[in-house]
Amino acid sequence: MAGDDVDAITALLIAFDPMRGDRPPSTRDDAVDWIEWQERNYAEHDFGLWVVETRDGALVGDCGLTVQDVEGTPHVEVGYHLLPQARRRGYATEAARAVRDCAAAHGIEHLVAIIRPDNHPSQGVARNLGMQLERTAHVHGTDALVFGTWLAHP
Ligand SMILES: CC(C)(COP(=O)(O)OP(=O)(O)OC[C@H]1O[C@@H](n2cnc3c(N)ncnc32)[C@H](O)[C@@H]1OP(=O)(O)O)[C@@H](O)C(=O)NCCC(=O)NCCS
Repeated sequence: MAGDDVDAITALLIAFDPMRGDRPPSTRDDAVDWIEWQERNYAEHDFGLWVVETRDGALVGDCGLTVQDVEGTPHVEVGYHLLPQARRRGYATEAARAVRDCAAAHGIEHLVAIIRPDNHPSQGVARNLGMQLERTAHVHGTDALVFGTWLAHP
């Protein structure tokens, strides 16, 4: 993900906004912040959210790894967000499986997905990754389900 993805990332954040509650919709400035967050992630962790493209090069979402605080403990999370017109085609599962395998190959032992209880599509992706519900937690000011899996190392 890089600065010239800002238009597509703006559309992605407008479509996906579960944390915003009553706040106004995402803006281009939020997309700039999102991209800069990934640039910091790449520099600090050597991972972050990467863009998901179709074979013709159209950006349809993002998927990757971030570090998330779960009640005081850092966890590596697989995250995924797709534009509405790209959903329900298995793209999130395909991308997230590749990210899970990349995480395993680089020595990450445990992977989580932090999901709101009403986000059934996201829970479907987590289950497709072999994740199971490990616990509930209060994350980003709301109740969440923490799905997780231990990764086998090649
Ligand atoms: C979550 C999201 C990335 C799923 O993307 P997707 O490409 O449509 O997911 P997939 O096609 O890989 O489907 C994954 C599973 O979830 C299920 N699923 C997908 N959409 C669903 C829906 N609307 N309702 C119920 N189940 C759904 C599918 O049945 C599939 O299971 P299956 O393989 O057993 O059939 C997409 O809905 C999205 O971008 N949502 C907004 C962003 C978001 O919530 N991200 C996760 C934050 S925790």
